[in-house]
Amino acid sequence: MIELQERPAETKSGTHDTILEARNVRVVFGNGVRAVDGISLQIYRGETIGIVGESGCGKSTLGRTLCMLQTPTHGSVVLNGSTISNMKGRRLREARKNLQMVFQDPYSSLNPRQRAGDIISEPLLLTGVDKRQRQARAHELLDLVAIGASGYSRFPREFSGGQRQRIGIARSLAANPEVVICDEPVSALDVSVQAQIVNLLVSLQRKLNLTYVFISHDLAVVRQMATRVAVMYLGRIVEIASADSIFTTPRHPYTAALLSAVPAMPSSSRKPRRIPLAGDPPSPMRIPSGCRFQTRCWLRETLDSPEICSAIDPTLSGAGDHQSACHFQHHVDARRGA
Ligand SMILES: Nc1ncnc2c1ncn2[C@@H]1O[C@H](COP(=O)(O)OP(=O)(O)OP(=O)(O)O)[C@@H](O)[C@H]1O
Ligand SMILES: [Mg+2]
Repeated sequence: MIELQERPAETKSGTHDTILEARNVRVVFGNGVRAVDGISLQIYRGETIGIVGESGCGKSTLGRTLCMLQTPTHGSVVLNGSTISNMKGRRLREARKNLQMVFQDPYSSLNPRQRAGDIISEPLLLTGVDKRQRQARAHELLDLVAIGASGYSRFPREFSGGQRQRIGIARSLAANPEVVICDEPVSALDVSVQAQIVNLLVSLQRKLNLTYVFISHDLAVVRQMATRVAVMYLGRIVEIASADSIFTTPRHPYTAALLSAVPAMPSSSRKPRRIPLAGDPPSPMRIPSGCRFQTRCWLRETLDSPEICSAIDPTLSGAGDHQSACHFQHHVDARRGA
């Protein structure tokens, strides 16, 4: 049998239409936190890419950078072939219409003194659309998210949490974006309401040909939504693959540990043992040298000669579209086993 050849990064997306791309993006905050520490990521038109990882690993910062709410310290963000990370003023505002964000807490992101109809159509204020057209668009969007016209004159406090998230989603769609970045959009909601919002997002994606970046620490929700998954650890993507591959055969020990903590993953081929993930991640001000995961790595413990783990910072590599930043990625699946 012939071994699968590793394909260089340039041709990996050959068959995909890339809509949004991060090229070696870094975001370093004034306090020295390397929130995003060198991420290259291509997002394909029409997909839902899940971004997962523990609290503080940089998911929101990456999401905000992808839609230029945050300027990268290094690297660039490219939308439909144009570099938007060096745009300013009007050009940037214009480009940003195509990239909208839905936030975790709809209540804090909705102005309590504004009526739902005005909240939803507000993004159109800057676009020179007149009042009548804005109202018509707000009604259309209220229907689209199944709130209905009666919601138009109500205030955020008069809606339930799920309905408020519907309003947040409607507002994100007002200017007809191609890409919607959802940052923990269901994390603040009850489980039954989560399912309704997930279903709404899926049906909107079909109707409107949307591309989603779906940020969540909840792997079960990501499993329902994502076609591809990127796993982040301390500001880096440590594994990226199709959702199926990630959930059935993880090739990074961090992913394997995250998965083992999820109760009853529906379609995993077998139930791996629970893998300990001791303590919290190190501070993003003091990222370990070599492999950044080595201080918590269960796989390293099982190796005869793990010296390379502390010596060399692994980059993403692997067969086909399944990429892992682990020197021993081919041992992960066997050793996590039952
Ligand atoms: N404006 C800021 N100034 C300084 N540090 C920041 C800022 N925003 C985020 N950070 C830090 O950057 C790191 C990444 O934060 P980020 O919010 O992107 O993580 P996250 O993965 O979204 O976490 P969570 O799951 O809790 O939402 C954290 O250490 C955080 O404290
Ligand atoms: Mg976050």
